[in-house]
Amino acid sequence: MQLLKDKINKEGVVKKGNVLKVDSFLNHQMDIAFLEEIGKEFKRRFADETITKILTIEASGIGIACITARYFQVPVLFAKKTQTKNIAGEVYTSKVESFTHNKVYDVIVSKQFLTADDRILIIDDFLANGKALIGLSDIVKQAGASLVGAGIVIEKGFQEGGRIIRNMGIRLESLAIVDAMDEKNGCTFRQ
Ligand code: G4P
Repeated sequence: MQLLKDKINKEGVVKKGNVLKVDSFLNHQMDIAFLEEIGKEFKRRFADETITKILTIEASGIGIACITARYFQVPVLFAKKTQTKNIAGEVYTSKVESFTHNKVYDVIVSKQFLTADDRILIIDDFLANGKALIGLSDIVKQAGASLVGAGIVIEKGFQEGGRIIRNMGIRLESLAIVDAMDEKNGCTFRQ
């Protein structure tokens, strides 16, 4: 998506350790007019699919998922991150390991809101190592729901997540794939 690449080139800041800061429009301050274009693009890419619900994970995915949901006219369900160990039987749960934050947490979704009838589109801001996406897809599987695909705003193509998710047979639509980044020259995008 050229508009997204232009936005990253203009406003994104590459930090040490291969971290791309997009706080001015995506991860902290949110540019709503721009996010509407993101939502429209996800709708365009998944136009051929029946989707009953969008699933995301707190925190940064929620805003993007909500705006995208306006174009699909479906509810948004977000997985909650919790450190609680004893979780009651009313929730689906999966373990997610965060390399960036160096910890393991449980993600939970209430069984009430995810059922076998659902056709799920997962939306998230970044795909890096893919652990969050794997955890969410595991929760969809536990519910017996259908995973239609995953829409990612920025995929870090030099990390393994994209390859793992595609190898799992999940339809993955990333609006920008960054193949390399450095503090001086910024991002190189996959064509
Ligand atoms: P993974 O989910 O693909 O396995 O990635 P990883 O564990 O490496 O990333 C952990 C968190 O860091 C995720 O957010 C992910 O979106 C974010 N992240 C990864 N790479 C970048 C990057 O280059 N720039 C930015 N801005 N974020 C990145 P999270 O833990 O779910 O936190 P939240 O921000 O959604 O609350």
